[in-house]
Amino acid sequence: MRAAFIQRHGAIGDVVRVDERPEPVPSGGQVLIEVAAATVNPRDYLLVEGRYVFSILAGRLPLVLGSDVAGTVVGLGPRAVGFAVGDEVLGMQTPRGRFGGFAERVAIRSGAVARKPPALPFEQAAGLGVAGITALQALRDDAELRAGEHVVVVGASGGVGSFAVQLAKHTGARVTGVCSGGNVELARRLGCDDVIDYTTADFRERVRDADVVFDTIGRERLATVRPCLRPGGRYVTTVPTAGNTKDQAIGSTLGRLRRGAPRSRTVICKARSRDLQELADLAAAGELEVLIDSRHPLEDAAEALRRSKSRRARGKIVITIG
Ligand SMILES: NC(=O)c1ccc[n+]([C@@H]2O[C@H](COP(=O)([O-])OP(=O)(O)OC[C@H]3O[C@@H](n4cnc5c(N)ncnc54)[C@H](OP(=O)(O)O)[C@@H]3O)[C@@H](O)[C@H]2O)c1
Repeated sequence: MRAAFIQRHGAIGDVVRVDERPEPVPSGGQVLIEVAAATVNPRDYLLVEGRYVFSILAGRLPLVLGSDVAGTVVGLGPRAVGFAVGDEVLGMQTPRGRFGGFAERVAIRSGAVARKPPALPFEQAAGLGVAGITALQALRDDAELRAGEHVVVVGASGGVGSFAVQLAKHTGARVTGVCSGGNVELARRLGCDDVIDYTTADFRERVRDADVVFDTIGRERLATVRPCLRPGGRYVTTVPTAGNTKDQAIGSTLGRLRRGAPRSRTVICKARSRDLQELADLAAAGELEVLIDSRHPLEDAAEALRRSKSRRARGKIVITIG
């Protein structure tokens, strides 16, 4: 089968190849998916360049890139439950599952696969995995965001941020988005009550008494956003820096000793069918928009990775396969 893969780490243009790879064989509880569309995440170019923090879980090279897919079930492992050949699905592959999404077929454990509602196009379903799950789990589980609270989403136009804005509104929160001037209208359309253009203003000086700062860019840490937060406010980031990891440890100790201490958490997204299904059902009902930044055929996977590396994507970068 055709797939985009690396045999060594290096610059995208030097090491990403699209060529024949062995067919995956579904084992245990895996389902084999014929991929119609996949989407790119920053982890893909970080993996290419040897900078992805969890790449060690994937084991040895060569590795087929890609975590997020949508397609049709064409095979089942002996212990796969809940799916049948012919089902249209979306799935999220993990580093431990050795990635594998930028390919004609991928085997994913059934616990990280959900049914694609008929109304949801494949390319949109493929956009929900890592970015949607991260936004959902960060706001619900790490920030414990409640209706009526105020959340600041830093990076409101990106893959994670565009879902976070919409999911926060869906929870009933007030949302301030932070993005560049060219994305202000987009952030408003996604549901932001207020938008701060970071090229002309510093949100840390503009926002006060927020309940949550959700940082999808990773340039902040608890100390830098503290002036924006009310006592007991929460800072949640997607970027596991050493500083944020330290703040999380200190925050959980302080939280036990002193009520109302601010908290810092780094979300680590977990591939789960029920979260994928929740996102897919919201999207099919028109309550969650999957922004498509651009579309690229599998043969142009390197171009799609370069677009991700630019960090200018508005929503998801799609690789069309089937
Ligand atoms: N921990 C986890 O489990 C987990 C899961 C998923 C992602 N992540 C990480 O989370 C980060 C975001 O992922 P993503 O998929 O959302 O990335 P992305 O789609 O590539 O983000 C691109 C967006 O970032 C915005 N941006 C760039 N610099 C900005 C700044 N200084 N302030 C505000 N916005 C800025 C851009 O908007 P403008 O053009 O308007 O600047 C663009 O829309 C990545 O570092 C990724 O590795 C972690």
